[in-house]
Amino acid sequence: MTTLDLTGKSALVTGGAAGIGEGVARRLAGLGASVTVADVDEERGRSVAADIDGQFISTDVADYPANLAMVQAVLAAYGALDIAVLNAGIISSVAMGADFDPVQYRRAMGINLDGVVFGINAVLPALRESGGGDIVVTASMAGIAPTPLDPVYAANKTGVVGLVRSFGLASVHEGIRTNVVCPAFADTQLVAPIRAGLEDAGVPLLSVATVVDTYLAVLESSSSGECWFVQPGRPSEPFAFRRAPGPRTADGSSAAAADPATQRRIVENG
Ligand SMILES: NC(=O)c1ccc[n+]([C@@H]2O[C@H](COP(=O)([O-])OP(=O)(O)OC[C@H]3O[C@@H](n4cnc5c(N)ncnc54)[C@H](O)[C@@H]3O)[C@@H](O)[C@H]2O)c1
Repeated sequence: MTTLDLTGKSALVTGGAAGIGEGVARRLAGLGASVTVADVDEERGRSVAADIDGQFISTDVADYPANLAMVQAVLAAYGALDIAVLNAGIISSVAMGADFDPVQYRRAMGINLDGVVFGINAVLPALRESGGGDIVVTASMAGIAPTPLDPVYAANKTGVVGLVRSFGLASVHEGIRTNVVCPAFADTQLVAPIRAGLEDAGVPLLSVATVVDTYLAVLESSSSGECWFVQPGRPSEPFAFRRAPGPRTADGSSAAAADPATQRRIVENG
């Protein structure tokens, strides 16, 4: 049970009109936050925003100027931004091979990967102005584990995981914690095309409520640059990635690795 009190906080949720984003928006509002719901689905988005006494802003996250306008709308309504949940996403189902469609591919990468890069860059000035805050991004287990079902989805979600694991180690130095949530299959409209197949295979679905619990755990933690997995029946926690192999000298002994602390020194000292 959370002890979070978000009274006076301003939160933004992209893809907040349905599914996981809707669940997060409702939970954050229930904890006292003023919530901006950003989505391409105007009807559902407006309805969720009205329900939680928040505001709706029509936003296609694949469009950078739309991301900037989204943040302006947050500031106009609530004067600040403290929590940004960059969650909007689609399953791409981009065929590889004879049926490959480059337009469909660009759209999938545009929403799931560019949308997060654009979102982070759009919210950063407002979070800095607030003296810090939280960015929580939605990726997927497809960003951790091979997903032959949809390799392009795996590519953009792995990209998001890499982005946040790296960016979170830089942003934390200015009080902005950036983390990523990687749910397994969850019970939303997104899984509709494969729901029957998952059921046949006996794969359990996460409830939206269970997935939303992880966003609160992330907000309550002190982590940054972590990738929190969500799997049915397991406590959600940061995934322990295996340490990457470091360099060796000619005689086989360990050489200095460009680890995050070294990279930070390089950036600071030029
Ligand atoms: N449901 C799952 O099994 C599952 C598992 C792992 C990760 N995810 C991820 O969780 C996130 C939310 O998915 P969901 O399951 O709640 O799906 P959903 O379809 O229920 O909700 C996604 C929301 O994003 C919105 N959206 C789509 N494209 C958009 C765009 N270009 N700009 C703004 N909004 C847009 C949709 O209108 C919708 O309201 C996605 O990033 C998805 O990849 C879902």
